[in-house]
Amino acid sequence: MISEILLRARQYESENEYLADKHRPEFHATGTIGWINDPNGFSVYKGEYHLFYQYHPYSTQWGPMHWGHMKTKDFIKWERLPVAIAPDCDYDKDGCYSGSAIELPDGRQLLMYTGVVKETHEDGSVEEFQHQCIAIGDGINYEKIDNNPVLDIKDIPDGGDIHDFRDPKIWKDGEDYYAVIGNRACDGSGSIPMYTSKDGILWSYVKTIDTCNNRYGSMWECPDFFELDNKQILVVSPMDMEAEGLEFHGGHGVVVIGGLYDKQNHDFKREWVQACDYGIDFYAPQTLLALDGRRIMIGWMRNWETTNLRPDNCPIFGSMTIPRELTVIENRLYINPVKEIEKYRNNLVHYENVEVKEPIQLNGISGRIFDMTVSVTSETQDDYSFFRMVLGKDEKHGASIIYRPKENTVTFDRTLASKRFDTLNCRSFYVNNHDGKIKLRIIMDKDSIELFVNDGEAVATFLIYNDISADGIEFEADKKVYIDVAHYTFDF
Ligand code: FRU
Repeated sequence: MISEILLRARQYESENEYLADKHRPEFHATGTIGWINDPNGFSVYKGEYHLFYQYHPYSTQWGPMHWGHMKTKDFIKWERLPVAIAPDCDYDKDGCYSGSAIELPDGRQLLMYTGVVKETHEDGSVEEFQHQCIAIGDGINYEKIDNNPVLDIKDIPDGGDIHDFRDPKIWKDGEDYYAVIGNRACDGSGSIPMYTSKDGILWSYVKTIDTCNNRYGSMWECPDFFELDNKQILVVSPMDMEAEGLEFHGGHGVVVIGGLYDKQNHDFKREWVQACDYGIDFYAPQTLLALDGRRIMIGWMRNWETTNLRPDNCPIFGSMTIPRELTVIENRLYINPVKEIEKYRNNLVHYENVEVKEPIQLNGISGRIFDMTVSVTSETQDDYSFFRMVLGKDEKHGASIIYRPKENTVTFDRTLASKRFDTLNCRSFYVNNHDGKIKLRIIMDKDSIELFVNDGEAVATFLIYNDISADGIEFEADKKVYIDVAHYTFDF
């Protein structure tokens, strides 16, 4: 049955979709209209890749959460589908928060999400309760099941916080379903309880697979847990992260915890911890196992720290990153854009061994929608102190990406490509020094810049807010360096 609330949302989006079109990124997934945040239910269904998202169609601000819906065959071209679920039951009346999806053996699709209920007390204070719910459907329409909620306060392990219990990520191993969920332990910081089920409907607690102990932020949102290249990866999105040097940045971050997993005893042992993305505009990613065995991640290309930063008069807020392929190499997660983007690339402009010192621009190297790789070398490793590239450049504006080989850092700075008011604009991170060489691949789609360093060693995602007509690209160094540039535009 399609409720009035869902019907209204579907009608609203089909009547207003056109408003968003001229503001849409060219090839990044966006909501139909209004606000989006986290990717949800990123999964395979009937041979296609489905993506749901936290969605408030009626305005460009966060509001009672629905799940928007789209699908793709190749991670680049998205087909819009009608809103999947709406906050229309007593157990989710204040929002259908983040969750995940899986195909059932009988061919139906199961969505597992967090239902939210807010209770207002006599003194006016509001208490929020979160519990896990199920909706099952055919890839377009979903029925919420009678047993909802399937996990609630009584299923939270001892000491776990009863208000923060959200964002289930489901998977199947053999005959059994599992889900990890974000919760807070009694010290107020994150913990990840795991649950199991035989049918995806009746769930029981197994074990808490990891806890924050106040080291990486406070509440851990949006967990994901998967095997990759003989390692086990836990991804969490901590709130209130405290920076540790340049490795993690403050605020809302995304942390990758790599290790080994003993499936029999459900013991997860950490081996390393790294930041997932060193940029500003990245949060709450989710992964799927693609049909060809690749582990693909997609993230919200925004962050709660900077939601006030937005283009003027734009009827949509939020988009997703380009889907990214993950691999583990020597206890580090490497992250690269999906290879499918390459089949849309065209118009290669290629330069080799161009000498750079004073600021220069190169013929044919410009734009706001491109895939460009710049490889920098110098005669000897300590020849130069910085190499700078400016993107989205006009006379007054531009976003800089600066490599400092002596410090082994990359910095990006959007101060001159942001809004007039002071805001979070710069970040730096460490990269490995390959004899003073560096490879910078940039995927730009109008306002977004995704920077992949040294074939996925580090990634930084950030948006810029200057006029789209500022499309210059400039290179500069303090001493002589040589660059190779491969610049493609796209045919979609
Ligand atoms: C993360 C998050 C989730 C929650 C959702 C609500 O960005 O806060 O924990 O489910 O957003 O929209």
